[in-house]
Amino acid sequence: MTTLWDAALGALGGRLGEAGLRHSLGVAQSAGELAEAYGVDRDEARLAGLLHDWSKDASNEELLSAAVDLGIPVTEVDLAVPYLLHAPVAAAEIRLALPEVSEEVAAAIAAHTYGVVPMQPLDMIVYVADTIEPGRAHEGVEALREAVGQVPLVELFTRAYASSLRHLVETRRRIHPGTIDMWNRLVSGDAR
Ligand SMILES: [Fe+2]
Ligand SMILES: [Fe+2]
Repeated sequence: MTTLWDAALGALGGRLGEAGLRHSLGVAQSAGELAEAYGVDRDEARLAGLLHDWSKDASNEELLSAAVDLGIPVTEVDLAVPYLLHAPVAAAEIRLALPEVSEEVAAAIAAHTYGVVPMQPLDMIVYVADTIEPGRAHEGVEALREAVGQVPLVELFTRAYASSLRHLVETRRRIHPGTIDMWNRLVSGDAR
Protein backbone atom coordinates (compact mmCIF):
# COMPACT_ATOMS: atom_id res chain seq x y z
CA MET A 1 0.00 0.00 0.00
CA THR A 2 1.35 3.37 -0.94
CA THR A 3 1.45 5.69 2.01
CA LEU A 4 0.75 9.40 1.78
CA TRP A 5 4.46 9.98 2.49
CA ASP A 6 5.47 7.80 -0.51
CA ALA A 7 2.94 9.50 -2.77
CA ALA A 8 4.15 12.94 -1.63
CA LEU A 9 7.81 12.03 -2.11
CA GLY A 10 7.08 10.59 -5.56
CA ALA A 11 5.20 13.71 -6.66
CA LEU A 12 7.90 15.97 -5.25
CA GLY A 13 10.65 14.07 -7.07
CA GLY A 14 9.25 15.24 -10.38
CA ARG A 15 9.15 18.88 -9.22
CA LEU A 16 12.34 19.67 -7.33
CA GLY A 17 15.99 19.21 -8.25
CA GLU A 18 18.45 17.24 -6.17
CA ALA A 19 19.37 20.12 -3.84
CA GLY A 20 15.71 21.02 -3.31
CA LEU A 21 14.84 17.43 -2.56
CA ARG A 22 17.72 17.10 -0.08
CA HIS A 23 16.57 20.32 1.66
CA SER A 24 12.97 19.05 1.79
CA LEU A 25 14.06 15.75 3.36
CA GLY A 26 16.18 17.71 5.85
CA VAL A 27 13.20 19.89 6.79
CA ALA A 28 11.05 16.75 7.18
CA GLN A 29 13.65 15.25 9.52
CA SER A 30 13.99 18.42 11.62
CA ALA A 31 10.21 18.89 11.70
CA GLY A 32 9.84 15.33 13.01
CA GLU A 33 12.37 16.01 15.77
CA LEU A 34 10.72 19.31 16.69
CA ALA A 35 7.30 17.61 16.77
CA GLU A 36 8.63 15.07 19.25
CA ALA A 37 10.21 17.78 21.39
CA TYR A 38 7.00 19.85 21.48
CA GLY A 39 4.29 17.18 21.54
CA VAL A 40 2.95 17.70 18.02
CA ASP A 41 1.90 14.90 15.60
CA ARG A 42 5.19 13.66 14.14
CA ASP A 43 3.81 12.31 10.86
CA GLU A 44 1.97 15.55 10.11
CA ALA A 45 5.12 17.56 10.85
CA ARG A 46 7.30 15.32 8.65
CA LEU A 47 4.81 15.50 5.77
CA ALA A 48 4.51 19.30 6.01
CA GLY A 49 8.31 19.58 6.11
CA LEU A 50 8.66 17.32 3.08
CA LEU A 51 6.12 19.25 1.01
CA HIS A 52 6.76 22.85 2.10
CA ASP A 53 8.81 23.84 -0.99
CA TRP A 54 6.49 22.12 -3.49
CA SER A 55 6.38 25.33 -5.61
CA LYS A 56 9.93 26.54 -4.98
CA ASP A 57 11.15 25.82 -8.51
CA ALA A 58 8.28 27.64 -10.24
CA SER A 59 9.26 30.77 -12.19
CA ASN A 60 8.10 34.24 -11.12
CA GLU A 61 5.56 34.27 -13.95
CA GLU A 62 4.23 30.85 -12.97
CA LEU A 63 3.90 31.89 -9.32
CA LEU A 64 2.09 35.11 -10.16
CA SER A 65 -0.34 33.48 -12.57
CA ALA A 66 -0.94 30.55 -10.20
CA ALA A 67 -1.66 33.00 -7.36
CA VAL A 68 -4.21 34.85 -9.47
CA ASP A 69 -5.83 31.57 -10.65
CA LEU A 70 -5.97 30.18 -7.11
CA GLY A 71 -7.40 33.37 -5.57
CA ILE A 72 -4.31 34.16 -3.47
CA PRO A 73 -3.95 37.87 -2.64
CA VAL A 74 -0.94 39.44 -4.38
CA THR A 75 0.63 42.44 -2.63
CA GLU A 76 3.04 45.00 -4.06
CA VAL A 77 5.94 43.12 -2.42
CA ASP A 78 4.75 39.83 -3.96
CA LEU A 79 4.83 41.54 -7.36
CA ALA A 80 8.38 42.73 -6.71
CA VAL A 81 9.49 39.43 -5.10
CA PRO A 82 7.15 36.73 -6.49
CA TYR A 83 9.30 34.09 -4.80
CA LEU A 84 7.41 34.88 -1.58
CA LEU A 85 4.28 33.40 -3.16
CA HIS A 86 5.82 29.91 -3.29
CA ALA A 87 4.36 29.12 0.14
CA PRO A 88 0.66 29.97 -0.38
CA VAL A 89 0.79 28.69 -3.97
CA ALA A 90 2.28 25.38 -2.76
CA ALA A 91 -0.50 24.94 -0.19
CA ALA A 92 -3.24 25.65 -2.74
CA GLU A 93 -1.71 23.32 -5.33
CA ILE A 94 -1.18 20.51 -2.81
CA ARG A 95 -4.83 20.72 -1.72
CA LEU A 96 -5.70 19.87 -5.33
CA ALA A 97 -2.87 17.42 -6.15
CA LEU A 98 -2.86 15.45 -2.87
CA PRO A 99 -6.34 15.82 -1.35
CA GLU A 100 -5.46 13.36 1.45
CA VAL A 101 -3.11 15.96 2.93
CA SER A 102 -4.76 17.46 6.01
CA GLU A 103 -5.80 21.10 6.20
CA GLU A 104 -3.36 21.57 9.11
CA VAL A 105 -0.45 20.43 6.92
CA ALA A 106 -1.56 22.65 4.02
CA ALA A 107 -1.90 25.62 6.38
CA ALA A 108 1.61 25.09 7.79
CA ILE A 109 2.99 25.01 4.23
CA ALA A 110 1.15 28.24 3.38
CA ALA A 111 2.64 29.89 6.48
CA HIS A 112 6.29 28.97 5.95
CA THR A 113 7.60 32.23 4.46
CA TYR A 114 6.25 35.00 6.66
CA GLY A 115 3.71 33.27 8.85
CA VAL A 116 -0.01 33.67 9.46
CA VAL A 117 -2.04 34.79 12.43
CA PRO A 118 -2.66 32.83 14.55
CA MET A 119 0.45 30.62 14.26
CA GLN A 120 -0.36 27.02 15.23
CA PRO A 121 2.34 24.78 16.76
CA LEU A 122 2.64 22.86 13.45
CA ASP A 123 3.11 26.16 11.55
CA MET A 124 5.92 27.18 13.89
CA ILE A 125 7.56 23.76 13.64
CA VAL A 126 7.73 23.86 9.84
CA TYR A 127 9.09 27.40 9.92
CA VAL A 128 11.79 26.51 12.45
CA ALA A 129 12.64 23.23 10.69
CA ASP A 130 13.16 25.17 7.44
CA THR A 131 15.65 27.38 9.31
CA ILE A 132 17.61 24.68 11.16
CA GLU A 133 17.51 21.56 8.93
CA PRO A 134 20.87 19.72 8.76
CA GLY A 135 21.84 21.37 5.43
CA ARG A 136 21.63 24.93 6.88
CA ALA A 137 24.88 26.60 7.90
CA HIS A 138 23.94 30.26 8.54
CA GLU A 139 25.23 32.28 11.47
CA GLY A 140 23.33 31.44 14.63
CA VAL A 141 21.93 28.12 13.38
CA GLU A 142 23.79 26.13 16.05
CA ALA A 143 22.30 28.26 18.85
CA LEU A 144 18.82 27.63 17.42
CA ARG A 145 19.45 23.87 17.25
CA GLU A 146 20.66 23.83 20.83
CA ALA A 147 17.54 25.67 21.99
CA VAL A 148 15.19 22.93 20.67
CA GLY A 149 13.27 21.52 23.61
CA GLN A 150 15.00 23.98 25.97
CA VAL A 151 12.74 26.98 25.32
CA PRO A 152 9.00 27.16 24.58
CA LEU A 153 8.09 26.67 20.90
CA VAL A 154 6.89 30.25 20.47
CA GLU A 155 10.25 31.51 21.80
CA LEU A 156 12.14 29.22 19.42
CA PHE A 157 9.99 30.46 16.54
CA THR A 158 10.60 34.09 17.57
CA ARG A 159 14.37 33.48 17.56
CA ALA A 160 14.24 31.81 14.13
CA TYR A 161 12.05 34.64 12.80
CA ALA A 162 14.46 37.24 14.18
CA SER A 163 17.33 35.48 12.48
CA SER A 164 15.69 35.60 9.05
CA LEU A 165 14.58 39.20 9.60
CA ARG A 166 18.19 40.14 10.43
CA HIS A 167 19.28 38.43 7.24
CA LEU A 168 16.74 40.41 5.19
CA VAL A 169 17.98 43.67 6.69
CA GLU A 170 21.67 42.82 6.31
CA THR A 171 21.29 41.77 2.68
CA ARG A 172 19.03 44.81 2.01
CA ARG A 173 16.07 42.80 0.75
CA ARG A 174 12.49 43.95 0.66
CA ILE A 175 10.38 42.97 3.65
CA HIS A 176 6.82 41.74 3.12
CA PRO A 177 4.15 43.66 5.07
CA GLY A 178 3.11 40.27 6.50
CA THR A 179 6.60 39.84 7.94
CA ILE A 180 6.45 43.18 9.72
CA ASP A 181 2.98 42.45 11.04
CA MET A 182 4.12 39.02 12.26
CA TRP A 183 7.14 40.52 14.01
CA ASN A 184 5.06 43.21 15.73
CA ARG A 185 2.67 40.53 16.96
CA LEU A 186 5.49 38.29 18.17
CA VAL A 187 7.09 41.02 20.26
CA SER A 188 3.74 42.09 21.71
CA GLY A 189 2.78 38.49 22.52
CA ASP A 190 -0.26 38.12 20.28
CA ALA A 191 1.00 35.86 17.51
CA ARG A 192 -1.29 33.01 18.53
FE1 LIG B 1 10.28 27.82 1.08
FE1 LIG C 1 12.57 25.55 2.48
